[in-house]
Amino acid sequence: MIPNQPLAKDIDPRAFRQALGHFATGIAVVTARGANDAVIGMTMTSFNSVSLDPPLVLFSVARSAWSLPAMQSAQSYAVNVLDDAQQHISDRFARASSDKWADVNHRPGLHGAPLIEGALAHFECAPYASHDGGDHVIFLARVVSFSATQGEPLIFFRGRYCRLADAGA
Ligand SMILES: Cc1cc2nc3c(=O)[nH]c(=O)nc-3n(C[C@H](O)[C@H](O)[C@H](O)COP(=O)(O)O)c2cc1C
Repeated sequence: MIPNQPLAKDIDPRAFRQALGHFATGIAVVTARGANDAVIGMTMTSFNSVSLDPPLVLFSVARSAWSLPAMQSAQSYAVNVLDDAQQHISDRFARASSDKWADVNHRPGLHGAPLIEGALAHFECAPYASHDGGDHVIFLARVVSFSATQGEPLIFFRGRYCRLADAGA
């Protein structure tokens, strides 16, 4: 239970984050091929659909993220929607590390951004626009190719991973 909160200027960031966590999401690892051919990847719950025509999706990246400059200069992105067997991959890409890709099976997508094997869906994207999002930068990306397969999603709810099976689905 999170009691009623005061108006914006007094918002407690911890309570705000906790309340936002009541919106259950899937988990995506957004990857990109940056300058110097470096490949980057970040765990994200901010991925969402935006438009069918043109086909647009969005995700937002913290201004403090080490990978932000590479995201901003990338020519292609890939959104990898994780399967419920891929919690270890979510954990791996949620930590700053120079060795995120060790033991992660992946292949280059059409435009070079890595596609993670075993993901439930892949969306390969080109940059479309970016916008100020407070302490995040909002990336709009145009989907150029996608695929999806059978399986169950990894879910994030109230700060924890869960599975559809946990909900008795
Ligand atoms: C479940 C979960 C969801 C996350 N969602 C986002 C997100 O949407 N945007 C973001 O910038 N960071 C998000 N993060 C944090 C990043 O994954 C984390 O800061 C990561 O280390 C960033 O990669 P970098 O250090 O290479 O920049 C999330 C972390 C977790 C565990």
